[in-house]
Amino acid sequence: MSESKLHITQTVEALRAHLGPWRDAGERIALVPTMGALHEGHRALIRRARAMAPRVCVSLFVNPTQFAAHEDLGAYPRSESQDRDMLVAEGVDLLYVPELLEMYPEGDVTRITMPGMGDCLEGEHRPGFFTGVATVVSKLLIQATPHVALFGEKDFQQLQIIRRMVLDLSLPVEIEGVPTVREVDGLALSSRNVYLTDEERAAAPALYRALKSIRDHLRDADGHDGGALPEMVVREVDGLISAGFTSVDYLSVRDSATFARVDDMMSLAGRPGRILGAAQLGKARLIDNIPL
Ligand code: PAF
Repeated sequence: MSESKLHITQTVEALRAHLGPWRDAGERIALVPTMGALHEGHRALIRRARAMAPRVCVSLFVNPTQFAAHEDLGAYPRSESQDRDMLVAEGVDLLYVPELLEMYPEGDVTRITMPGMGDCLEGEHRPGFFTGVATVVSKLLIQATPHVALFGEKDFQQLQIIRRMVLDLSLPVEIEGVPTVREVDGLALSSRNVYLTDEERAAAPALYRALKSIRDHLRDADGHDGGALPEMVVREVDGLISAGFTSVDYLSVRDSATFARVDDMMSLAGRPGRILGAAQLGKARLIDNIPL
């Protein structure tokens, strides 16, 4: 392995001390926010970041405000030494690993809420999730003030919420979405896939297949009556349960920007649509999405 140029900082002050001279020298800075447990999906984000900017900063912070009380904050997968190896191998310049009090100082009360598009789908099934995400991402963007920040399309609703927040708050940063990385059988890579047993791992790609079936159905029905979408969705939900999923939170077709419900291709009137799904498989809650 080549000699590491990876710097590690833990405070906003040290982060700014590192980034300032690069910015002053006119170098573009890319930020890749993560919660660690890095996998090939993160590698794709870092490589895209590298293609867009000569300076790449990765943040690693397992953000407590985006976990509900019953969720897996305490058990969230951590692999700090492998994470560092990947960052070194990818030539990342700076790793920012803030402590809790650096992100949420004593007495902290400020939150960013995203009513409407933040209350449906993931927001409905994980109340408070997008408040936590929008709050921590806004803090990271203000702390690092990168030229570009990159997020995976795997968390599509999160990506669109961040785009909306950046627009609404006039944050001076470009947001870049990076396509989902999949296993050969179609399963979207996720840090939470480590929770799957062998049997569940074999069943997991059924979620991606269900999304594709709904897409094919809607495309075939283009210009007709919507092709009985609700019945189709019920069949796909039943299929997931038969495949071994414990429960299905949603399988839904939405407008890509507003997340308004879509009943057929015609109601989109040419705007981009997205098919999104979330389902529980053993200990893992899997989410996925594809463009319509
Ligand atoms: O997608 C994630 O890993 C997290 O939600 C993010 C964007 C790093 C915020 O904590």
